[in-house]
Amino acid sequence: MNIKEIHDTARSLVKGTCRVCPVCDGRACAGEVPGMGGAGSGASFRNNIAALAALRLTPRLIHSVRQPRTETWILGIPLALPLIVGPIGGISFNLGGAVSEEAYQRAVVDGAVQAGIIAALPDAVVKEVMRIGLECARRQGGRGIPFIKPWEPEPFEEKMDMVAEAGCSVVGSDLDSIGLITLSRMGHPVYPKSPRDLEGMADMAHKRSLKFLIKGIMAAEDARICLEAGVDGIVVSNHGGRVLDHVAGTAEVLPSVVSAVKGRMAILVDGGIRSGVDLLKMLALGADAVMIGRPYSVAAIGGGAEGVVLCTDIYREQLAQAMVMTGCPDVAQAGRHLLHQR
Ligand SMILES: Cc1cc2nc3c(=O)[nH]c(=O)nc-3n(C[C@H](O)[C@H](O)[C@H](O)COP(=O)(O)O)c2cc1C
Repeated sequence: MNIKEIHDTARSLVKGTCRVCPVCDGRACAGEVPGMGGAGSGASFRNNIAALAALRLTPRLIHSVRQPRTETWILGIPLALPLIVGPIGGISFNLGGAVSEEAYQRAVVDGAVQAGIIAALPDAVVKEVMRIGLECARRQGGRGIPFIKPWEPEPFEEKMDMVAEAGCSVVGSDLDSIGLITLSRMGHPVYPKSPRDLEGMADMAHKRSLKFLIKGIMAAEDARICLEAGVDGIVVSNHGGRVLDHVAGTAEVLPSVVSAVKGRMAILVDGGIRSGVDLLKMLALGADAVMIGRPYSVAAIGGGAEGVVLCTDIYREQLAQAMVMTGCPDVAQAGRHLLHQR
């Protein structure tokens, strides 16, 4: 199985709901939410791609880096490279029934574990979505990071119990889903949180010995508030451009978030990362790890767990190659010096 075969299989299964483009850049699917696109004009999705494309690496050729270290730990979880499969919820709904929720979640969870990384798991109005993901994680000894929607305290806590029972060690909440039209259309809108609400959410996690992540941070001030509320890490993310049109690319806002909280909480980032080279750019800006969403969906649909493993192996090879080419011996040592300053 190679990437072309995986893409061809995925393309035939999804029947036009995703075009499976050579580079997944948000142009063909602009406005397709539900679907795989970005909201409105699709600008936020495209801004993620453009912000990464605008960064340039500096080749360094005179050094002794031959086999760079890509391994790392994030919130107590070992990773073969600083990469997590992003949570993708309602895949069946978003792709017109092309794949079952169960087959999809199993492919990403099992594939990620086989490749030495971990998959994040989604939550949705339909309770079954989270139950399925957690069952997959339970079968892998709790290896999965569930992201619970920011529901009201009671249903939020119920799901937190389910996460703890599945044996997971880290849980998150995608706070930016307050902008998801799919939730409000289904009669289950979610609302912004106060700093006090956040403290309550972090406490619920900590009482169950879970580390707590907030996903969807795009402003340094929000990152600071998360830190003060006891949150253990953030994901700089605009939800793949699905919740608000005309938002900056995540690589544009990451440096200010890094200046505000680096070293005091884990900093993850996602949005438009399409190669190991993009991954290294995000590390150079100060991220501790990244998430990749849509390309893994295509890999899992077209190739199951094997597709997820293949995709991860490609990212690892590209990352290692880019580290040799920039003289970076260890992902922990990636920094702004790898980038060409214009
Ligand atoms: C169809 C679809 C469903 C998604 N569902 C969720 C979800 O349930 N929870 C969540 O935190 N993010 C969700 N996301 C956002 C992704 O986790 C991630 O932030 C985004 O896709 C990353 O950008 P990329 O796809 O460009 O790599 C979803 C994205 C897509 C495309």
